Amino acid sequence: MSELLFTILVFLAFITFLLLLYNNVSVVKRYKVKTKKPCGGLKIVLISDFHNNKRLLGSIVKKVRACAPDIIIIAGDLVDRRRPDYKTAAQLLTALRGISDVYYVTGNHEAVLGRERVIEQLGCSDIVLDERYKIYERFSVLGISDRIVDSMQQRQDLLALFERLDNFKIAVVHRPTEFDREQTVSDYDIDLVLCGHVHGGLIRIPFFGALLAPDEGFFPKYSKGMYKENDSVMIVSGGAGNTFLPLRLNNFPEIVSISIEN
Ligand SMILES: [Fe+2]
Repeated sequence: MSELLFTILVFLAFITFLLLLYNNVSVVKRYKVKTKKPCGGLKIVLISDFHNNKRLLGSIVKKVRACAPDIIIIAGDLVDRRRPDYKTAAQLLTALRGISDVYYVTGNHEAVLGRERVIEQLGCSDIVLDERYKIYERFSVLGISDRIVDSMQQRQDLLALFERLDNFKIAVVHRPTEFDREQTVSDYDIDLVLCGHVHGGLIRIPFFGALLAPDEGFFPKYSKGMYKENDSVMIVSGGAGNTFLPLRLNNFPEIVSISIEN
């Protein structure tokens, strides 16, 4: 075997090992958000882009339970449009509902499959928060679905109604690019915006960041983490699964645990 061939084989084996590692181990990413509103101690778990990740179902449930959340938010793409394995998604919902209140805002994959069909298959109409909000004593949660064809006016009317509430306001919207688009989420008085969709940029280059994200292209502004605009804070999940290819590198599937503190 030539030296070159040997080097190529070692390189390919190393990349395969990294792909297996970064696509088959889930992690918990933790954030703290400060507020003056009286909801200190609130714990939120955010799960986005699960894409029927059967292999990680058990470990994700275990990690969410250990976080002991007050509420679990699913920010879209729970199922995958290419392989809509409703059984796995339903198993995740059942397990999560045994831990705390769960709310589900649909993403672009549900939109392609047909939101109503997905909701019916999962039997979860009672927890879908698309274009609705839920008011708790300490906080409120609004969901905006990823229905791309919907008018901006509908979103603006909903946000304007929601911002009138005076407790800690959380808006869930699948795509982070909605955050600073003109006259969308960050223009309103909302304390925390929760998103997913971009899978952390798939490949993350050390000391540099994300390589590629849908809607944003190469070297995206939003990939995963915490962002600020006006008085709003946005947390973007790096996602808990993959679409058709397991291409994550230096970017583990994650669940997000958020502590709201005074
Ligand atoms: Fe998405």
